[in-house]
Amino acid sequence: MKNHLINPIFQIISQVAKEENVKAFVIGGFVRDLLLNRDNKQDIDIVVLGSGIDFAHLVAAKLEGDIPVKFFKNFGTAMLNYHGWKIEFVGARKESYRRNSRKPIVEDGTIEDDQNRRDFTINAMAIDLTAESYGQLIDPFNGISDLKEKIIRTPLDPDVTFSDDPLRMMRAIRFATQLDFSIEPSCFEAISRNAHRISIVSMERVSDEFNLIIQAEIPSKGFRLLDESGLLRIIFPEFCDLKGAEIIEGKGHKDNFYHTLAVLDNVAAVSYDLWLRWAAILHDIAKPLTKKFIQGTGWTFHAHEFRGAKMVPHIFRKLKLPLNDKMKYVEKLVLLHLRPIVLAEDVVTDSAVRRLLFEAGNDIDDLMLLCNADITSKNPNKVKRYIENFNIVRQKLKEIEEKDQLRNWQPPITGEVIMKTFGIPPSKSVGIIKDAITEAILEGEIPNTFETAFQLMLREGEKLGLYQANS
Ligand code: CTP
Repeated sequence: MKNHLINPIFQIISQVAKEENVKAFVIGGFVRDLLLNRDNKQDIDIVVLGSGIDFAHLVAAKLEGDIPVKFFKNFGTAMLNYHGWKIEFVGARKESYRRNSRKPIVEDGTIEDDQNRRDFTINAMAIDLTAESYGQLIDPFNGISDLKEKIIRTPLDPDVTFSDDPLRMMRAIRFATQLDFSIEPSCFEAISRNAHRISIVSMERVSDEFNLIIQAEIPSKGFRLLDESGLLRIIFPEFCDLKGAEIIEGKGHKDNFYHTLAVLDNVAAVSYDLWLRWAAILHDIAKPLTKKFIQGTGWTFHAHEFRGAKMVPHIFRKLKLPLNDKMKYVEKLVLLHLRPIVLAEDVVTDSAVRRLLFEAGNDIDDLMLLCNADITSKNPNKVKRYIENFNIVRQKLKEIEEKDQLRNWQPPITGEVIMKTFGIPPSKSVGIIKDAITEAILEGEIPNTFETAFQLMLREGEKLGLYQANS
């Protein structure tokens, strides 16, 4: 493996190991990704048979410049940055290897001890950095063969590995999804058996893994595994509720669980954006709540987009996702997800397109991607019709945008102007007048200019018994 250790840091580490007469190894994700020829996120984990903190300081002293070492005494870990690489040092452990664990870590193990307590065989491989055996792969569990056969397997009895850190159940599914590996059957059974223990892990850590699953090339794979193992029901029950297709009077509706997964994969094929993917996951989330069978009509999911948008903050809070503009973006897309398709089914009027552009703002392109991804019908005629109508909507959107520039549009008359003109304080009337102006412009009743909007403001004010302050 010698020739693969291109980063000069490995030689420096080897040098320090020699001077201190200790053994040092690169281990974990870096080795796995190296063997897979996969881009690593620039993280290197070093295990030393001794103090990781002392060793990190010695390495830092050898590097050019004044490189700071961050260390955590309780955990026996130290970290430094080297040309954009995050290098973490730890003493070999007998105990389970856990990041973010609050429990102090016991050091002083052998390299075998350390490898034993890692999560998967493919993550337990180490490369020796000691001068005499530099570059030698230490692979006690035949991780290399699991890499070749694309298998996720634990080094120890999976019940032990998962009880050491239940988050590893999520990690198993995350790696299976990211790398397109399969989980060895007895390992998967252990996940199903231990799934309930995920509740002792903090939701932040669970969501970090969940988001990595969502960011994979084909995220549905991970969702299916989460579902089959019982983890999904525990971490995200609302999604499981989408499952099932009922039939009444011979009329069925689609299974929204599998439909949503298809939409998610469709979105993933055209965008890496995590939040657009979340919008896909949540777009029909309120369907189970709003489902109704109406005789003569069939199944309806009336207002599921409104109810769904309302559920977004609640779900984000529970999953410890950020309650910021990203959440607002997902809310908006869930709320608007039917609009382009409804538009496409009808005669596409300018005012409807203008209204959509105004409401979606800069997110119109993402909304169109989501809407396109939402077409999962198996009926080729239906799909053809949708796609044709969709193209008309796209064309119209383009035309109207060029003409009216509504993307980040603000009505030409502000609340300030209204208050000043009528000499009134902030009040309901200001909102009523502003809305009337916005409506009139979006409906195309008046052009989008200050002068015409001002005139309309005066007329609307009059209706409310208001008159220009200085006249
Ligand atoms: N590890 C573990 N159990 C955990 C987390 C991590 O055994 N719950 C070990 C594994 O050996 C893993 C290494 O710590 O390879 C580093 O963990 P981390 O950086 O979280 O993951 P990587 O394997 O590096 O994967 P990625 O780069 O995709 O995050």
